[in-house]
Amino acid sequence: MTGPGFAPIARVDAQDKVRGRAIYGTDRALPRMVHAVLATAKIARGSIRSIATDMALAVPGVRLILTHEDIEIVEPAQFILAGQGYGFQSIQPLATRKIGYKGQPVAVVVADTLEAAMQAADALDVIYDTEAFQALIDAASDEDIVAQQGSPLPQEAFGDKIVGDADAAIHSAAVQVDASYVFHAQHQNPIELISTVAHWQGERLVVHEGTQNAGAIQHGLARQFGIDSALVEIISPHAGGGFGQKNSMQSQTFLAAVAARRLGRPVKLVMTREQIFHTASFRPAARHRVRLGATRDGHIVGAVHEVDQQTSRHDLFASSTASITARLHGIANFRGSERLVRTDVQTPGYMRAPFEHSGTFAFETAIDELAYALSSDPVALRLANDATADPLTGRPFTSRFLAQCLTIGAERFGWSRRQMAAGSMSGENGELIGWGVACGAYKAAVAPAIATIEVHADGAVVVSVSGHEMGQGLRTVVANVVSRRLGIEPGRVDLVLGETRGAAPHLTAGSWGTATAIPAVEAAMDALDEEVRRIGAGADGSGIDAVLRRAGMTRISSEARSKAPGQPDAVYERLVTGLPAASGPVFPDFVAMSYIAHFIEVRVERSTRRISIPRVVSVADCGRVVSPVTAASQVRGGVVGGIGGTLMEISEVDPRHGGFLNADLAEYVVPVNADIGDIEVHFVDEPDPTLNTLGAKGLGEVAMTGVGAAIANAIHHATGRRHRSLPIRIEDML
Ligand code: MOS
Repeated sequence: MTGPGFAPIARVDAQDKVRGRAIYGTDRALPRMVHAVLATAKIARGSIRSIATDMALAVPGVRLILTHEDIEIVEPAQFILAGQGYGFQSIQPLATRKIGYKGQPVAVVVADTLEAAMQAADALDVIYDTEAFQALIDAASDEDIVAQQGSPLPQEAFGDKIVGDADAAIHSAAVQVDASYVFHAQHQNPIELISTVAHWQGERLVVHEGTQNAGAIQHGLARQFGIDSALVEIISPHAGGGFGQKNSMQSQTFLAAVAARRLGRPVKLVMTREQIFHTASFRPAARHRVRLGATRDGHIVGAVHEVDQQTSRHDLFASSTASITARLHGIANFRGSERLVRTDVQTPGYMRAPFEHSGTFAFETAIDELAYALSSDPVALRLANDATADPLTGRPFTSRFLAQCLTIGAERFGWSRRQMAAGSMSGENGELIGWGVACGAYKAAVAPAIATIEVHADGAVVVSVSGHEMGQGLRTVVANVVSRRLGIEPGRVDLVLGETRGAAPHLTAGSWGTATAIPAVEAAMDALDEEVRRIGAGADGSGIDAVLRRAGMTRISSEARSKAPGQPDAVYERLVTGLPAASGPVFPDFVAMSYIAHFIEVRVERSTRRISIPRVVSVADCGRVVSPVTAASQVRGGVVGGIGGTLMEISEVDPRHGGFLNADLAEYVVPVNADIGDIEVHFVDEPDPTLNTLGAKGLGEVAMTGVGAAIANAIHHATGRRHRSLPIRIEDML
């Protein structure tokens, strides 16, 4: 243990947020600012024959129309997964006449008012040459299916996951499960739309944008313009939700910056809700097949998890589903094989628990099916098959308290009162009641980070660390650690996050924010202590400000950096050039994961089949909890996201036209308050002894993993029916 648990301090930016003092990217209204809108392709594949702009230019107030005919791009931003890229995909809109997907930007219209820009965008006359396209993975031909094994993707992460001989073990097992699952595409839909304010100050480009990756935008813009990245500043102190959608460079940033340079004015460009279904990444459609084999007494001897996941025609957005499901339980023989299916869409991307939400849905539903095949309690079956070391590599886990998550959750939920038979429980009003359980896991990853601390003689404390605040609570985490070390109020810590003029921001994703920021901040605090001791030798233990005043100094500062265990120093070069450099769950000497168990009650109205979820108990093992209030909030948010992803969210496709049909939050349904019941959150709160000084793992995404299976298992318990396709909507219940 590294000292007592952390204080449950309030979110440090809570007051700023509710008072409107937290300034989001396009909240900025700059003098002389004009408005840009995107015009987007109405076909799913082909090329632009011509764009007539005369009608659009005649709209009063229009200042500029950019098309592929008059835009200069020094070098595209390139696809982020390709290793040296910054963009969410390789297609650079307006760099080509080719149309790779419906909704691809074909022009930018800038006007004095938003209304004029929208009217002019509608007045553009674009003529296309169309080509045949394919919008659905089920209709794809064999040549559009690419095995990740042997593909150009990094095989360590994306190749097959094989240990032992799973097929043989299942073949000879007494009890077998074989089930296929279907996942429709889903879109992240953060409340803050993808949007940019760009302006030039002479040679310098300043961009305000809500993002999870200011470094990618900085260096991506520098590459696109062919200028020094020191001339590009990105300001993103708050993002209004990301969920993975904002974790790389988007299409509009460069376009807004080009328009700003042409016009010599600040330009604001906000994508519409309808546009983000096409102009940004999304959770791809997928098919999974899970096979399990077990002995009659409930020992799981083998598992196969096969995944076909949607990608675009122009990029391979890879799946790493099996690297998590192979580690959920102690199964000695495992085969995970993943393939990609090319379709004519924008490149999919990461959406909170990108592979783990669907992966755990398939795997943990299959485990429930196995429990019923064995007549075994689903909690007991999981406890009997817990892993003691990493099944894939044999390396030790840094810490694993999944069994505790299950036992604490079962106790809190009252699981012992459950009757095993499906359809055996009902409520006061005759509604069917189902209780379901499922586990989740997510890699504990760490990225390189830089932290700087300044303490001033007037008592001001300024801390900057790699990372972004997107509502997940990173500011509160850092403030809690720093304030505890310095013995000051958390609100006194002035935080600089998500700004390229501060510590180089990293790609803030993959649930590595806390486990990445904390070691850097702690190292900077250690360096600060050292410095204080040096100048204040003989000081009496009073505050740093007093030491400074005695020494006649106005400020003292320190800087430190940290990286994942075993990473080479070269990763710092990736950090300062805006390239992702996270590592995990496999480190040289160990494997690190976070875990969760969800216990969920569903109620199903007998006549209407309407589903409600009155209560959830979730118990997480995320190592040391550094900010109890925001951590609990993260888990509640993950459960809410899981409920949406399981019962509501679907990006609808019309195969005749391609693209996605949803245009707003009325047509893309997400949970609202009335959909959410009681969510009780507990933490094991045992520090991970190996991963970092404070023992924090990660929490953001593990929170959502397993929610889907717990709901589907509860529905099965209520009705006797298995649901193997997401989302599960009322029409699927009839
Ligand atoms: Mo997140 S889905 O790791 O950006």
